[in-house]
Amino acid sequence: MRKGQIYETVVSTYDADCKPNAAPMGIVPLSKQSLLIRPFKTSSTYRNLLETRCGVINVTSVPEVFYRTTFKHEDRGRKALLGWFEPAKTIAAPRIKLAEGHIEFTVRNLQEKNEDRAQFICKARLIEAKRTFPQAYCRGAFASIECIIHATRIKEYLSNERDVEAEKLISLIDYYRELTDRVSPYSKNAQIIMLITSHVEKWKKKDASIHQNSG
Ligand SMILES: Cc1cc2nc3c(=O)[nH]c(=O)nc-3n(C[C@H](O)[C@H](O)[C@H](O)COP(=O)(O)O)c2cc1C
Repeated sequence: MRKGQIYETVVSTYDADCKPNAAPMGIVPLSKQSLLIRPFKTSSTYRNLLETRCGVINVTSVPEVFYRTTFKHEDRGRKALLGWFEPAKTIAAPRIKLAEGHIEFTVRNLQEKNEDRAQFICKARLIEAKRTFPQAYCRGAFASIECIIHATRIKEYLSNERDVEAEKLISLIDYYRELTDRVSPYSKNAQIIMLITSHVEKWKKKDASIHQNSG
């Protein structure tokens, strides 16, 4: 990883009751051993890092890991991540078994200058990577991860009456769906984008009914 770039990873933490949680988070390496995580203060990851002061950065390029950890709140039975975790080796945190790499970290410093987001400066305690087979680049995998990122913003924009910004991202998802149906038909990538489209439809309907009732 290069200093100063944003990498999309999945951060896993325990809550105060030792219940494991995982959420996609961008991380920025600051030096060989230190890195920055910027969770929204509304997220469970923020609360857990504040409470336990440690976690694991799960390095993966598997779209399903991003999808399931993002949409776990929509899964009523909370079964989406069942059986996914194992204990970290050096700290009291869970880690995702199938990730290609793990960075176990402790929180060194917390800055809360921004109203919405906290900045956790973390120190890597253990860095591990699995031996993996070469992965040929498939545009469908990239497209499905981009759709997941857009979906998290669409939900927020719709609930904050920022409809123009939401529509812009919805049209990007439409574009990626067409692309994926072409380069990666009947795949998990295509299935993820289909599921995201149905979440977005549901959010739009909910948003419209809120507007109707308040108007
Ligand atoms: C690739 C990707 C990167 C993300 N990066 C961040 C981030 O840096 N900070 C953040 O607060 N949310 C980020 N999100 C959104 C959170 O993962 C999402 O809100 C999640 O539901 C939070 O889960 P939690 O409440 O269990 O922490 C990202 C989402 C994706 C798909």
